[in-house]
Amino acid sequence: MRCVKVRAPATIANVVCGFDCIGFAVENPFDEISVELINEKTVRIEHIDNFNLPTEANKNVAGRALLAMLEKVSLKKGFKVTIKKGMKPGSGIGSSAASAIGSVFAANELLGKPFNSNDLIEFALEGEFLASGSKHADNLAPCLLGGFVLVRSVEPLDIVRLNSPKLFVTIIHPQIEIKTSEARSVLPERISLKDAVSAWANVGALVASLEKKDYELLARSLKDKIIEPVRKRFIPKFDEMKQASLMAGAIGGGIAGSGPSVFMLSKSEGIARKVEKAIAEVFASTGIDFKTYVSRLSSCGVVVEEFS
Ligand code: HSE
Repeated sequence: MRCVKVRAPATIANVVCGFDCIGFAVENPFDEISVELINEKTVRIEHIDNFNLPTEANKNVAGRALLAMLEKVSLKKGFKVTIKKGMKPGSGIGSSAASAIGSVFAANELLGKPFNSNDLIEFALEGEFLASGSKHADNLAPCLLGGFVLVRSVEPLDIVRLNSPKLFVTIIHPQIEIKTSEARSVLPERISLKDAVSAWANVGALVASLEKKDYELLARSLKDKIIEPVRKRFIPKFDEMKQASLMAGAIGGGIAGSGPSVFMLSKSEGIARKVEKAIAEVFASTGIDFKTYVSRLSSCGVVVEEFS
């Protein structure tokens, strides 16, 4: 086996109240990434999309992650990576995480799986750091593992997979780019104890609601007084989209990762489609291009599509 092609899904980080610590994976959209073994200890990158991402390994999130992996490998081999992005960089739906996780997952398969999940996330964190200036794993972990994931700690890595009830997600992706590093630069360095209490109470309730399959508690826990108020100004019509989604029957939702995408959770595909229509009608008035997706949650995360 010399080449592995994988499908790495989009992910929604933060899930409103769980900044940097909760995320989930969706089935659609996704990136397709092929990794080939080459007889030189280096990483070569090729893109088959129009996003003009860097091809120099050290400046590319997939490249950085694979270079971190190569440092731990004694073989005198390297990787050629071919990336077809299904999501625009700077979308808020885990584009950099999909590139990094897809690449290290495929490379690990090629090498005969010498690395475990935490190792792969550690390598991918190097890519996430390049993209955002911060080592957060709330996109990486669900992209690798699927479903809802809680990142209890990054140093050392402590990842907790969560159960969840049946859920559908509606995503609207305004075709504007918000760099995660910029979206992080506006965040408050300090918060009040009162806001901290509200945040950890909501995170606890979110986790409990997923485990208990309690949709009403889930709706009550999708609240955030710290991050959403400062980031939503980058997203035209944010409040109106949220309001229209709730009116259409959504459980709740908010900014996907660091934006500009917005996600809404619903109990059924039918409601998620109504939410899609409602949100699109509101956003269309901005005149900005956008894409929408309705998807199930991905139960397995990144998967192999083809060995050759
Ligand atoms: N938790 C990160 C943030 C996710 O909100 O900055 C970025 O994709």
